[in-house]
Amino acid sequence: MELFDVMRRTFSAREFTDDPLPDETLVKILEHARFAPSGGNRQGWRVIVVRDAATKRALGDLSGFAAKRYAAQAKNGESPWNTIDPPRVDAAAIEATPPPRRLTEPIARAPVVLVVCVDLRLVASMDQDLERVGIVSGASIYPFAWNILLAARHEGFGGTITTLATAQEPKIQSLLGLPPHVAVCAVMPLGRPARVLTKLTRKPVAEFAMRERWGGPSL
Ligand SMILES: Cc1cc2nc3c(=O)[nH]c(=O)nc-3n(C[C@H](O)[C@H](O)[C@H](O)COP(=O)(O)O)c2cc1C
Repeated sequence: MELFDVMRRTFSAREFTDDPLPDETLVKILEHARFAPSGGNRQGWRVIVVRDAATKRALGDLSGFAAKRYAAQAKNGESPWNTIDPPRVDAAAIEATPPPRRLTEPIARAPVVLVVCVDLRLVASMDQDLERVGIVSGASIYPFAWNILLAARHEGFGGTITTLATAQEPKIQSLLGLPPHVAVCAVMPLGRPARVLTKLTRKPVAEFAMRERWGGPSL
């Protein structure tokens, strides 16, 4: 595919056909994805390739915990899990909300799930002393995760960056034997998409790009 087409048409695939995603294709995808940038070119990414049905099911189920709060807040008109506005739903409302199947089942049902991890010993987290949630560390791993989806799209496959399971990171570490300095960045179901979307919904440039300073004229 042409670069701009891949960029504009790499959608979040959550339903897959029964087609296999062979190791050779996976290697080819990772072979290209590894050219992603990372701070100091330290390449702290590590990938666990999960094909075992019970492990995929466990990763899907682990996503259910955060999915309950996500769904409860979304239903209440909130931006779920944001660190600025305290949640306006209480523990009982979260508990009463079932985890949406579209957030858990893709992980259990995909032919393969990649658990994209990062070795935090290799990440320069420049914002670690600021009084807000860390954001910079992600920049050393998510370009790699996104490259996986771009390369998969180019090869006729697809998937989704999912992060709900990371709310239960200690349980993933114990499930997969990850050492404590290795963080989980994404649990990524991958496979042949059941439907191919070509038109994604995104805001126009003029809505988010401004000249010279916050609130300046739109680009
Ligand atoms: C950092 C990040 C976390 C995400 N977490 C989840 C997730 O946990 N579960 C899920 O189904 N999708 C997840 N997504 C996918 C988004 O919902 C998706 O990118 C967005 O809805 C746009 O979808 P589209 O590209 O198909 O238009 C995540 C995406 C990103 C970039």
